[in-house]
Amino acid sequence: MCGIVGYLGNKEAYPILIKGLKRLEYRGYDSAGIALLNKNGELNVYKKKGKVSELEAFAKGKDITGTMGIGHTRWATHGEPNDVNSHPHYSQSKNLVMIHNGIIENYASLKEGLTKRGHTFMSQTDTEVLIHLIEDIRQHENMKLGHAVMVALNQVIGAYAIVIMDKNDPDTLFAAKKGSPMVIGIGKDEYFIASDASPIVEYTKNVVYLEDEQIAIVRRGEELKIRTIKDKEITPYIHELEMELEAIEKGGYDHFMLKEIYEQPRSVFDSMRGRLNSETGHLKMGGIEEYETKFSNARRILIVACGTSWHAGLVAEYLFEEYARIPVEVEYASEFRYRNPVIYPEDIVIAISQSGETADTLAAIELAKSKGATIFGVCNVVGSSIARATHAGSYTHAGPEIGVASTKAFTAQVTVLTLMALHVAKVKGTIAESRYRQLLYEIEAIPQKIEEVLKQNELIKKIASTYQHASNALYLGRGYSFPVALEGALKLKEISYIHAEGYPAAEMKHGPIALIDEEMPVFVIATKGANYEKVVSNIQEVKARKGKIIAVVTAGDHDVKGMSDHVIEIPETDETLVPLVSVIPWQLLSYHIAVMRGCNVDQPRNLAKSVTVE
Ligand code: M6R
Repeated sequence: MCGIVGYLGNKEAYPILIKGLKRLEYRGYDSAGIALLNKNGELNVYKKKGKVSELEAFAKGKDITGTMGIGHTRWATHGEPNDVNSHPHYSQSKNLVMIHNGIIENYASLKEGLTKRGHTFMSQTDTEVLIHLIEDIRQHENMKLGHAVMVALNQVIGAYAIVIMDKNDPDTLFAAKKGSPMVIGIGKDEYFIASDASPIVEYTKNVVYLEDEQIAIVRRGEELKIRTIKDKEITPYIHELEMELEAIEKGGYDHFMLKEIYEQPRSVFDSMRGRLNSETGHLKMGGIEEYETKFSNARRILIVACGTSWHAGLVAEYLFEEYARIPVEVEYASEFRYRNPVIYPEDIVIAISQSGETADTLAAIELAKSKGATIFGVCNVVGSSIARATHAGSYTHAGPEIGVASTKAFTAQVTVLTLMALHVAKVKGTIAESRYRQLLYEIEAIPQKIEEVLKQNELIKKIASTYQHASNALYLGRGYSFPVALEGALKLKEISYIHAEGYPAAEMKHGPIALIDEEMPVFVIATKGANYEKVVSNIQEVKARKGKIIAVVTAGDHDVKGMSDHVIEIPETDETLVPLVSVIPWQLLSYHIAVMRGCNVDQPRNLAKSVTVE
């Protein structure tokens, strides 16, 4: 949460920083701020509550010159979102300014000490405390700024990605990180610093991912230097970015979310590309091969994740149990990390995360690692913290997901997890060859089937207009469709602010049925499969109480049509693969309802794309 960006070079920094902040706005949009050092050595800081566009309007007509600068877009933790709490923050003398992503957990005790030494604070933030501390150490220990940063960071408990600018040094930026991501782009005579590569990709493909407890010294006309906070020199490892600029632009769509929904035939294909060959029956899961025996002998699999990734984990539970006959437990990472769970060294832990930066998932991984379990990651963002913290893993290759509501990441995660479960089943011999082969064919056909569902966008939009004013909604599904019910409800609530709940259809009669009246839309997945008749009975129970039924059905099903207010047909597929197709109508429905209600689809209130705080 929070996006940070920095520039040092021979171009004007302001346009680069503003563009970068707009790309990082998905990480938080409570306020935005910028600091620039002009050629006269004046430090100009502009900050404003609200979005980057409000900062831009505020900075209009002011001095925005300078070839070195830093910028920040905030998701508030300490202190309400207002102008004062916005970053950058000054040190006591106002000679230093800093931006920060993360949380300084021991800020209160540090602040107390500094206050006793005469420091006064303008904001309620933990960030301001850290920059005061750095300056205090620098002055009292008579140190160079780089060393003062090092000493201060050794006193800090918590997470940080920081960039510091010194009014009296127009040629240097200091950047450091622990727990929060940071990428440094190396151009010709210029450097870029950012929370992810999106603000950098159009200027250079050469990047260095800073590791935890490292400090980068970015100096005009010099090579990048990196030291650890224990003062050990590190040789920077330069990666080549694979990301393309088009992947992070809207490409003609009104919103990133809609673009990402429509990208799914391609992103699902990409997540299986090079891994699956239905002709030869070959399934190659790079990350898993080395751990095949471990997977086969695993006493159980633990899945840790949050939000939509947790829903993908639930689908995986069904898949691994059905195909590979391994017991699976799916855990909210936030609960798992704090409840002294029983973890065996033979356990396999699968951590699922789009961003690869979710703090709770990272902490759950560290806990499981400390107990000797083998950790496998399913991440979308290449080089992310979770991808690096795991023993092995498979990337989902969905491409950058910018809309806060996760869509294509979910289908890519489920695709990769399906391939993993099938691969393990084949190795273990728990699946018949004919069934295995049939499933490979079915999986290959999924992108085309998603394409078919997307063609029903106009119908789904019409249904959305009927229910756009609803105050509540219920999502039902059984078996493989239960996680999709949860995911449908999450999509609706997070972007349209309609209260929605997902339930296993049969659980409805144990409570939620009391909510049903003529005002209540009930979104049901009633595709053909083992539970079909039972779901039909659940639909009847809703109709008997005058609830409205919007059903996702298998193409050609007339029975459910007869008892529903609206139906959306999806192509038939294997029951175990239905989530990959049935989630699409719920994504489109939430999107249209949110647009009709005038909500900010890509940046819903109070949310951020990467939840790097617990
Ligand atoms: O990056 P992650 O997959 O670890 O993120 C987990 C959740 O924060 C995320 O899925 C969140 O629930 C989304 N807003 C859902 O659309």
